[in-house]
Amino acid sequence: MKESQISRRCKTIVPFYVMDLLARAKALEAEGRSIIHMEVGEPDFVTPPPVIEAGKQALDSGRTGYTPATGIPELRHAVAEYYQTRYNISVPASRIIITPGASGALQLILAALINPGDELLLTDPGYPCNKNFVEFFSGVPVAVSVGPDSEYQLNSAMLEQHWSERTCGALVATPSNPTGTIVPKVEMAAIHETVTRRGGSLIVDEIYQGLIYDNPGYSALEISDEVMVINSFSKYFGMTGWRLGWLVVPEQFVDSIDCLAQNIFLSCSAPAQYAALASFRPENIEILEARRQEFKARRDFLLPALRELGFDIPVSPQGAFYLYANCANLTDDSFAFCYELLEAEGVAVTPGKDFGVNEPEHHLRFAYTTRIEVMEEAVNRIRRFLSR
Ligand SMILES: Cc1ncc(COP(=O)(O)O)c(C=O)c1O
Repeated sequence: MKESQISRRCKTIVPFYVMDLLARAKALEAEGRSIIHMEVGEPDFVTPPPVIEAGKQALDSGRTGYTPATGIPELRHAVAEYYQTRYNISVPASRIIITPGASGALQLILAALINPGDELLLTDPGYPCNKNFVEFFSGVPVAVSVGPDSEYQLNSAMLEQHWSERTCGALVATPSNPTGTIVPKVEMAAIHETVTRRGGSLIVDEIYQGLIYDNPGYSALEISDEVMVINSFSKYFGMTGWRLGWLVVPEQFVDSIDCLAQNIFLSCSAPAQYAALASFRPENIEILEARRQEFKARRDFLLPALRELGFDIPVSPQGAFYLYANCANLTDDSFAFCYELLEAEGVAVTPGKDFGVNEPEHHLRFAYTTRIEVMEEAVNRIRRFLSR
């Protein structure tokens, strides 16, 4: 086997830079150093007990085979009921497709929408995989630089400005990774109006929807049945490793998505789907809501603490568990800064480079996926690092 046999795709796709940093952090830990992890984009809570119990029962009762490619009907119905009870939205279960995480949902919807050469508008900074997924389906990602003026989100004026003859739609994430900012509902309606008038499709990634702290939040499904909505059991539901999410599509897309899902994934994990049924039970929601309050308290601790240290966070994030900090006051090389901070003080954060090319050297992402007492120590260490 020669290296030349590996596809060009594999040579151009970039890994998450933070993975190398994480490897270094682990190596330092193995040497006995104390490392505070603020780089990881997953809740530090394990899956809640009701879901674990349901997962065990699924295994004990032999729920280990393939399921329909669109997911088990019970789970599709449970998601529909969740939209009804939590957001007062009526979505038929037939439009809900269970997927292997939001990652699976993103791949299915992009495969369903993109023809070769089609452009899709996205944000920079944004979730790094989106651009790669668009390219997998021979599309062209058009990353629009966003900043504090638009709360790090796309708006309808930007869509008008960047829309071309080849644009097939736009993808927004609310709350966003890495900024935690949201698209207000009125702006989402304006975005939807623009995309529809231009004859395109709107994809809304709502993976952090359950983790909004200052208001009850909304779903883009309230605006129109035409919006393609992505969600996941990973973040709010605390099930990252079970690999389960969902996609809501207009009725006309269901058969095509079913066919794509059969071909690409065949089926999601059966035990994970039966376990996820317990996610929506009141006793589980109670646990998740307590966790949401904990994340809110963490944000309320870390946001002023970082500002006080000299990081500029011009828009207060309303959701997810990230703070995207401008560090131009402190360094012109956020990547080197991350490594120096790790080596000197054992605090691991993610460099802006992982989220695009829009001034990455001046940005860092802090994940508040660790307890407040630990973050207090992290803040002390960062203060010491900055005053060296
Ligand atoms: C904005 C966003 N979308 C999608 C994903 C994929 O998540 P999963 O496949 O675990 O549901 C992530 C993961 O961090 C994310 O931040």
